[in-house]
Amino acid sequence: TGLSTLDNGFVNTAATKSAITYIDGDQGILRYRGYPIEQVAEQSTFLETAWLLIYGELPTPDELASFDTRIRRHTLLHEDLRRFFDALPATAHPMSVLSSAVGALSTFYEDTMDVHDPEQVELQTIRLLAKLPVIAAYAHKKSLGQAFLYPDNSLSFVDNFLKLNFGTMAEPYVVNPVVSKALERLLILHEDHEQNASTSTVRLVGSTEANMYSSISAGISALYGPLHGGANEAVLKMLAEIRDSGQGVARFVERVKNKEDGVKLMGFGHRVYKNYDPRARLVKESADEVLAALGVKDELLDIAMELEQVALSDDYFISRRLYPNVDFYTGILYKAMGFPPRMFTVLFAIGRLPGWIAHWREMNADATTKIGRPQQLYIGSAARDWPAGR
Ligand code: CMC
Repeated sequence: TGLSTLDNGFVNTAATKSAITYIDGDQGILRYRGYPIEQVAEQSTFLETAWLLIYGELPTPDELASFDTRIRRHTLLHEDLRRFFDALPATAHPMSVLSSAVGALSTFYEDTMDVHDPEQVELQTIRLLAKLPVIAAYAHKKSLGQAFLYPDNSLSFVDNFLKLNFGTMAEPYVVNPVVSKALERLLILHEDHEQNASTSTVRLVGSTEANMYSSISAGISALYGPLHGGANEAVLKMLAEIRDSGQGVARFVERVKNKEDGVKLMGFGHRVYKNYDPRARLVKESADEVLAALGVKDELLDIAMELEQVALSDDYFISRRLYPNVDFYTGILYKAMGFPPRMFTVLFAIGRLPGWIAHWREMNADATTKIGRPQQLYIGSAARDWPAGR
């Protein structure tokens, strides 16, 4: 028809207006509802930031307290959903388990998922925030072959999550405040990032008026891939391979530059940031501090820092404006906290949940929203007749 312009990978096309997050990729600026990420990460909590993203302004102390209480009250999973995990193999990747179980949430709440009813939208919001960390911890426990714990609602969001992951029935669990603070900060840094692939997926699915559980299950699937959230797991694998190959960082960088076997420097490059990712800067700051406080010495951190130095002084990376992104240093921190690499992207998903919810709600509250339906440029055969007699 001549109406469509091809925009491979949506490099130039805005799919929506949004008031949630601002990014200036050339200057390396990220703001949540106008607040610089550096200030949010320093001063806020995960749930306060979630409120800010979802409702647009900072909560009053009362609003925050009742938000927190409501979330704590919804942490229990239906016993049948606990048993849902039994049907999956223990070898399953926790991201597959996560998207399946979140998709399954919509089978439990069919009577309360009217997307046009503000009370039900609120309930979907609270349930997702309360239950995703529990589902995530069960995916972890399942892979370890350990019994699932029930949530402990006397604990904060992050501490409850840590206990569900690392506590056992055998011994009392004591939260390490260094781990708790570091994890809270990492989750805040992941809370929103405007129209990335998973958020765009949540919006596209949500634009059909599908409920929040189904939309976010699709977002989790989009996050799984190594070019998006899966990069944090891939970075650790890459660092371990460099260590084990005994060939050193310079040789690995050569392979990347020569595009040997399509190898990329995972945790580098970004569609929007053509400067240092401000989140990566904050994570890197935490890495030294937290590893020292936990008394962990990780040679993978040394390899990562050497890799960064080599890459940032090499023309291949300079000319393409490739810098470390948020996923470059997070894995080292998650590992120091005791999470296995397969849980890294799951942690990203918990962090990103408030952003997905905020975007789903922003889109749904906008009366001008239309179903998302991209165009294509047809390059197939011209009209032809079916062979006679076939
Ligand atoms: N290593 C080596 N070369 C790279 C890399 C990399 N990580 N990233 C981009 N390039 C090269 C790419 O080959 C291309 O070179 P050329 O012009 O010679 O063909 C040039 O840089 C431009 O890259 P592009 O593929 O057009 O960039 P994009 O905007 O389509 O892709 C990206 C962005 C994040 C998918 C890509 O940089 C990448 O694959 N990075 C590694 C995976 C990763 O770390 N992903 C996490 C992203 S941040 C958090 C998140 O979203 O989860």
